[in-house]
Amino acid sequence: ERQEVRPYNRQRLLVVANRLPVSAVRRGEDSWSLEISAGGLVSALLGVKVFEARWIGWAGVNVPDEVGQKALTKALAEKRCIPVFLDEEIVHQYYNGYCNNILWPLFHYLGLPQEDRLATTRSFQSQFAAYKKANQMFADVVSEHYEEGDVVWCHDYHLMFLPKCLKEYNSKMKVGWFLHTPFPSSEIHRTLPSRSELLRSVLAADLVGFHTYDYARHFVSACTRILGLEGTPEGVEDQGRLTRVAAFPIGIDSERFIRALEVPDVIQNMKELKERFAGRKVMLGVDRLDMIKGIPQKILAFEKFLEENASWRDKVVLLQIAVPTRTDVPEYQKLTSQVHEIVGRINGRFGTLTAVPIHHLDRSLDFYALCALYAVTDVALVTSLRDGMNLVSYEFVACQEAKKGVLILSEFAGAAQSLGAGAILVNPWNITEVAASIGQALNMSPEEREKRHRHNFHHVKTHTAQEWAETFVSELNDTVIEAQLRISK
Ligand code: G6P
Repeated sequence: ERQEVRPYNRQRLLVVANRLPVSAVRRGEDSWSLEISAGGLVSALLGVKVFEARWIGWAGVNVPDEVGQKALTKALAEKRCIPVFLDEEIVHQYYNGYCNNILWPLFHYLGLPQEDRLATTRSFQSQFAAYKKANQMFADVVSEHYEEGDVVWCHDYHLMFLPKCLKEYNSKMKVGWFLHTPFPSSEIHRTLPSRSELLRSVLAADLVGFHTYDYARHFVSACTRILGLEGTPEGVEDQGRLTRVAAFPIGIDSERFIRALEVPDVIQNMKELKERFAGRKVMLGVDRLDMIKGIPQKILAFEKFLEENASWRDKVVLLQIAVPTRTDVPEYQKLTSQVHEIVGRINGRFGTLTAVPIHHLDRSLDFYALCALYAVTDVALVTSLRDGMNLVSYEFVACQEAKKGVLILSEFAGAAQSLGAGAILVNPWNITEVAASIGQALNMSPEEREKRHRHNFHHVKTHTAQEWAETFVSELNDTVIEAQLRISK
């Protein structure tokens, strides 16, 4: 018996991600305020509008008491969000530990932490156990809210165990899983002690999606080499059952950014920024303060540029917005001090009594302030050491219709595959090359800037978050129908 597929606008979608699009801050025993969460996953998913979507995830806060949990559940319901409550110990072991100290660095080619290299260490095992337990808690909430015909779309490296839990609950559930980070070469993935169990759980999904063909190919190779399964052009086959694997490059809600530039406050803010930095070219970095973003390397490249180009010293400024993230993980704490140290040294070296070359902010900006900043920027520096896609590059391009600024982009960001033709591509590890590309960007002719911008703007406008979601969901529906046909043959 075949399941009915509803048209998009009535297709019920359960979006499951570790982090909800809003994070909660407690204001009183039963009162909460909600703030938009940071990160590429949330900014893309906020651009997905057409479905009848509900969100299931963690609100980023520990709520041990029932009164608080009830009040927060109610506040979140207005935003169509359903909370998964994780206690402090689980957050420590699952989120800080297994997700952000093991999987995140590994998937970004930074390797496994030294102390966890041996699979037998207790911390690795207990963190993996907590990871599975947390995934089961997400599955329990999904199954409470699931209705027949719903599409369940699981997101990211936090929830690799979820497809298996969901299929065990109901084998007919339509389950998709999408990874927002790179999937590394199989040679990297095979160093992970729980490599096979995680691959098998992901394969329980009907459709598995990645940002680029390379990541999809790496995943299929991991399944063939590590699990000995068969890779086909459609995906991975295990005893006649196919898991479809494909690339679905994400996008943003570009119109939201374009419209923001017409808001009077934004126009006023842009005017003030232009006055504030008059006579100087503005270079911009916007990143979560994460080791994958290559912030120290970027700042060192800027230093090298100033060192070699004395005439530019009082004519250029670098604004680096570094949004604090995962602040309980020691690696992130170390990075914060490292970046502060480098910025302080360079400002001491090249600053004057009235101006400094780098403005470094340890905080996020609200949406409108960010749009104004993107719009007045001459050169954006997105120099991640690795990045699943990187939507900051898309947001910058969306805000540059008037200025046609230059994007310097890491070749190790997924976005290099879509915006590569319009950006200056760099190897972020090569500080000399990045310094030279800063010079190239600052000196670029208006004609060339226009040509490069046209290419990128067209891409960002046509490859939106909505289109990404529609393609994924329709592919998931088709995959399930095809599987049913195969079985009934
Ligand atoms: C990346 C991940 C997301 C995550 C975001 C912010 O974009 O792919 O899953 O939500 O970073 O990180 P956080 O740990 O604060 O959720």
